[in-house]
Amino acid sequence: MKLKVLVSKEQLEEKTSELAQRITRDYQGKELVLVGVLKGGFIFLADLARKIDMDLTIEFISVSSYGSSTESSGVVRIIKDIDTDVTGKHVLIVEDLIDTGLTLNYLKGLFNSKGCANVKLAAIMDKPDRRKVDLKVDYSGIVIPDEFVVGYGLDWAGKYRNLPEVCVVLEN
Ligand code: IMP
Ligand code: MG
Repeated sequence: MKLKVLVSKEQLEEKTSELAQRITRDYQGKELVLVGVLKGGFIFLADLARKIDMDLTIEFISVSSYGSSTESSGVVRIIKDIDTDVTGKHVLIVEDLIDTGLTLNYLKGLFNSKGCANVKLAAIMDKPDRRKVDLKVDYSGIVIPDEFVVGYGLDWAGKYRNLPEVCVVLEN
């Protein structure tokens, strides 16, 4: 498969540091729970968490969206839910990429219904051209064009999540 680097390691690091600084400042004195969205969110969460300079806890949720592999349908199935009670906590959902926005929109509603003090969203990459729902991403990362990308957590048929940069797939 032929890949072209779209977002470098340095750009990812710089943006992650910037978001982590804002998060550290915004959540002072609050009980912060980072909720990583599996599988894609695991790399960004690991990098972000190590740059946030305050106490926090970490949870994971695993979701799968019905529909084809490249188009999300908005109907989200919870494969693995979080393990602890987040009532009254400040939840920050950590995702690899916001595309149509349907997944994060669903998850935001789900966590709001769990009685959290507050639910915010962080995504390291953003494809704004693809948005289907009007959704506020509180900690939004690098804007990318409407192209299929892999790496830094993002997969193509399960592979390439381990690439340290974000790449466009040129040909199979
Ligand atoms: P949304 O519900 O359309 O915002 O879906 C976002 C999710 O779809 C991301 O978290 C990814 O898991 C997946 N996704 C969207 N675009 C891409 C892509 O270009 N490459 C790999 N996965 C993608
Ligand atoms: Mg994802």
